[in-house]
Amino acid sequence: MSTIIKNGRIITSEQDYVADILIEKETITTIGSNLKAQATTMIDATGKYVIPGGIDVHTHMDLPFGGTSSSDDFATGTVAAAHGGTTCIVDFAVQSKGTTMRQALDTWLRKSEGKACVDYGLHMILTELPDGWLSEMDAMVKHEGVTSFKLFTAYPGVFMVDDATIYKAMKRTADNGGLICMHAENGGVIDLLVKRMIADGKKTPNVHALSRPAAAEQEATHRVIALSEMAGVPVYIVHVSSHLAMEQIREARDRGLPAYGETCPQYLFLAYEDYADGSFDGAKYICSPPIRERANQEFLWKALKADDLQAVSTDHCPFCMKEGFKGLPKQKELGEDDFSKIPNGVPGVENRLHLLYEGGVVRRGWSMNRFVQLVSTAPAKLMGLFPRKGTIAVGSDGDIVVWDPQRRYTISATTHFMRVDYNPYEGMTVSGSPAYVLSRGRVIFEADKFVGAEGSGHFVKRGQYNLI
Ligand code: URP
Ligand code: ZN
Ligand code: ZN
Repeated sequence: MSTIIKNGRIITSEQDYVADILIEKETITTIGSNLKAQATTMIDATGKYVIPGGIDVHTHMDLPFGGTSSSDDFATGTVAAAHGGTTCIVDFAVQSKGTTMRQALDTWLRKSEGKACVDYGLHMILTELPDGWLSEMDAMVKHEGVTSFKLFTAYPGVFMVDDATIYKAMKRTADNGGLICMHAENGGVIDLLVKRMIADGKKTPNVHALSRPAAAEQEATHRVIALSEMAGVPVYIVHVSSHLAMEQIREARDRGLPAYGETCPQYLFLAYEDYADGSFDGAKYICSPPIRERANQEFLWKALKADDLQAVSTDHCPFCMKEGFKGLPKQKELGEDDFSKIPNGVPGVENRLHLLYEGGVVRRGWSMNRFVQLVSTAPAKLMGLFPRKGTIAVGSDGDIVVWDPQRRYTISATTHFMRVDYNPYEGMTVSGSPAYVLSRGRVIFEADKFVGAEGSGHFVKRGQYNLI
């Protein structure tokens, strides 16, 4: 099997040139002008961008959470990802209390194998860390290709761990060469605020945001960066929602610390004002950290441009608004009378490139190189996937998107591939969309038609992080 992509404008995080690309079996083997090679598949990319496939390093497929499970599994979620130009995800296995990391990894491999349509890696969420388990962290990094651990300062009783556990995990990770990912919100204070608000009869979805102030995110971000500095480990702050938290990362980076941050489309495009009225429709936008006031958005856009934040992922964690969609149970409706029972999470894996291209390149004049850096190259480097993924180079996987800047696309739940009954960006028309999506050399999407195969995605053992 071979594929040739002709006359496209190839964009990496650093380069911008017109050439042909030959992919043989699964790997890019030649890049050059007027390639004469014969190939099984020929794609004319004249007038289009040819970019490395998007990498979304923060998704939750089939995650048991909030009294239900996220509505996309590895099959539906990765088809949706591919539709929008994402050809690799890094999802989260959960070491829940009483289970080992090995058991958690096996559970997530069972959920994904034979289902995923694009390649994927796994992080490990830790919910406890007895001393005897520290060597298992080393085994994850050294043997299993699970080279990052996520810990939480939020969700008491579910995921939250104390500072000593965080520090212990950080110290071990400093030694084994992994990366620490942190969900940074002050869970103890938030829990108190939630209880008080409910007791005061404030139960509508918008109160979710009021109970999780930006200062609670700022404080925890500051704290976990300080802990990482003590432990001498790189730290990646996930889903940065507020400029206050972002500024903690900027300050740390200005001091030369290996601190990194991602934000997500929901914090760039959605605003608290969209659901401040208290109607149950606001459940669509419930995620943690919460969606902030509109004035916050521009700070995050500027931080992405200035490299104060290094990546954009989605934190894709969909839950349906109505019971019965595609046979799914009650999800957001679990919190009809009490916002604290609404499962936290929003869909997004399908529209990340659409939204970032529109918001960054079209509306704010970013270079295509910066776009590629944020949606593909930096995530690949941070998560130990580079240069196998995240670039277009001889030897890299044939994970490629032929991006058509003329192809207007209207985002809608009526046409999206995500298994969820709403889209937070419903009705928004964006100015570019994939014409072709290739996973390891095979075309899996042609425009909006899936031509791939369930289960063709492979689990990728990741290496060590490496970024700037
Ligand atoms: O609301 C969110 N973010 N749900 C997914 C779990 C997490 O904290 O990432
Ligand atoms: Zn989180
Ligand atoms: Zn998440």
